[in-house]
Amino acid sequence: MPSRCYITTPIYYVNDKPHIGHTYTTVLADVMARHRRMMGEEVYFLTGTDEHGQKIEKAAAARGITPKALADEVVPNFESLWKRMELTNDHFVRTTHPGHKAVVQAKFLELLAAGDIFKDTYKGLYSVSDEAYVTETQAKEMQAQGLAHQLVELEEESYFFRLSSYENWLLQLYERYPEIVRPEFRLNEVKQFVAPGGVRGHLENLSISRTSITWGIPVPGDEKHVVYVWFDALLNYLSACREGFWPPTFQLVGKDILRFHAIYWPAFLMAMFRQEGDDLQGELPARIRDLLPHTILAHGWWLMGEDKMSKSKGNVVRPEQLLAFGVDAARYFFMREMTVGMDRSFSFEGLIDRLNADLANGLGNLASRTLSMLQRYREGRVPEPVVLDDLDREVLEAGRRLAPTYLEKAAANDFHGALEGLWAYLRFLDGYIVKAEPWKLAKVDSAQDRLDTVLCLLYRALRASAVLVSPVVPTLAQTLWASLGQAGAVADQRFDAFDFDAPAPGPVAGPEPLFQRIDKEAVMNELNAETPAPAPEMPLDVPPVKAIIDYDAFAATDLRVGQVLTAEAVPKSKKLIKMTVDLGFEQRTILGGIAGAYTPEELVGRKVVVVANLAPRALMGVESHGMLLAASDNNSKPYLIAPPDDARPGFIIK
Ligand code: MSP
Repeated sequence: MPSRCYITTPIYYVNDKPHIGHTYTTVLADVMARHRRMMGEEVYFLTGTDEHGQKIEKAAAARGITPKALADEVVPNFESLWKRMELTNDHFVRTTHPGHKAVVQAKFLELLAAGDIFKDTYKGLYSVSDEAYVTETQAKEMQAQGLAHQLVELEEESYFFRLSSYENWLLQLYERYPEIVRPEFRLNEVKQFVAPGGVRGHLENLSISRTSITWGIPVPGDEKHVVYVWFDALLNYLSACREGFWPPTFQLVGKDILRFHAIYWPAFLMAMFRQEGDDLQGELPARIRDLLPHTILAHGWWLMGEDKMSKSKGNVVRPEQLLAFGVDAARYFFMREMTVGMDRSFSFEGLIDRLNADLANGLGNLASRTLSMLQRYREGRVPEPVVLDDLDREVLEAGRRLAPTYLEKAAANDFHGALEGLWAYLRFLDGYIVKAEPWKLAKVDSAQDRLDTVLCLLYRALRASAVLVSPVVPTLAQTLWASLGQAGAVADQRFDAFDFDAPAPGPVAGPEPLFQRIDKEAVMNELNAETPAPAPEMPLDVPPVKAIIDYDAFAATDLRVGQVLTAEAVPKSKKLIKMTVDLGFEQRTILGGIAGAYTPEELVGRKVVVVANLAPRALMGVESHGMLLAASDNNSKPYLIAPPDDARPGFIIK
């Protein structure tokens, strides 16, 4: 029976369109899936969407639609992008699917019955800006950073997962089976989180239900609780697994969500697979280890310069911009440029240089030269090598090592290194052509055997390249394969049956262009033109400066730093937003006529300047206790005045 391989990607939130980060992870998973299929493994490749939780609830509310309607609108964007990227996922899971919901509820109840989940009152500190409870350690860190005002004491009923009980087994897992988290430096980070400095007793139980939101899977029998979105989301890997493929072989995640996957997820699984008599303080039973994921593979981020890509910074690369260069181009660039685990800066210049150097020149050029020579000198027939000089022998030996070296790196998911090695060989062949000078050999009768050898070695190198890179650039590899006179789909080749020296099956076709060289200057000009030029500034229309006042008149106004804790639109009003603003010493309700310029979501967490001693005033039946300062030319939109980041609520402004 072929060995089985189960590959997963994170499931993506549906509050936004797919971006380059999602695309990178999913392409990497696809390359791994295709590669493993060509290794003769039976693969199940899963991706999907994470559709519950507060993020989605809020994004939907801001659009005035239901969360499910939002998900239904966004999911096709993911599905169609994955098709265009030629991804071969076997299934697309959605957490709103009833089948998934049933598994989450059943597992929740099982863990509840086993005592791994229990109900308690959660008394603790809640970070308003992060919308999450914080641990004591995190609270201390926030206090040290002067952020104590963002913490409020909350008390609510919650279900807890007994995470602390799994500390011992988790630490054994990391020690004895270090392949659980790759690359290694990420494993160290996880260990450090579970037991800082090797000291145990830090892992706290995990609150896994919420009463503050409604968009989620209800806790069965206690429906005012919904299941915490990460418990729900992580279980997709179980609920959508195809029979016979458990446990996951490779689970791809970004570094930012590694803790959820390397700590919570194995602990949930340990609890699910645990049997009576298993000793949580003793050895992690082999039976359980065999049911846990083999490897959680954490990759780094695509950055813009040194910065994270983010919508607010306006430096996000859209998947469509990459696709404009072609599917193979985007896939090749991702795999060649990113070392799995590390961050990498993105630039269009870098992308174009890479594609021109490797696909248009490197492989494309070698293929077109070789195929033209085979046509011109041998009428398309591929000769066998008869005489080999030292250089030919060196080329042949390096060619025979090509596949084993490439496959060893790729098996460790190091596609960056594998491709680098392959292209180094292609460059070596360029030098070989220069030295062997086949165009001169063609003119000399006695050199025909040597010419056979040169042409044959070039042909074999191209054939090996087509097979090896097929998972990365499927269409390009197939074009090359066909023009080499090979029948069928290159993706149906098996790496273990690949023979560098196999005779060519028949005559080769003429060279097919593999990759069109990109005109860098023209494309860069186009891209720069796409970036909208700043709008011309409107002439200022401002009233003259008011009459002079003395200092005391100014000082009578009490201005304070505030921070918006909550914000909501005032029903029936187009302009007004009702906010709770933290002034450090108290919280106030303040109404602002800023709805045209800001959404409630944008306001929460923002620091503002408050006129703190303004007489209260009722607007639309709500009393406002203060006013926010904003800049404007009196006709157009307000620009809220922002105090510096390190100014704390309550600070006096004078
Ligand atoms: N829904 C959760 C995952 C649940 S898995 C059970 C989630 N979703 S997400 O939509 O935010 O997608 C996050 C994934 O995209 C992460 O793996 C993250 O690392 C990745 N990326 C987000 N921005 C990225 C880059 N700029 N570069 C590379 N990947 C990055 O988290």
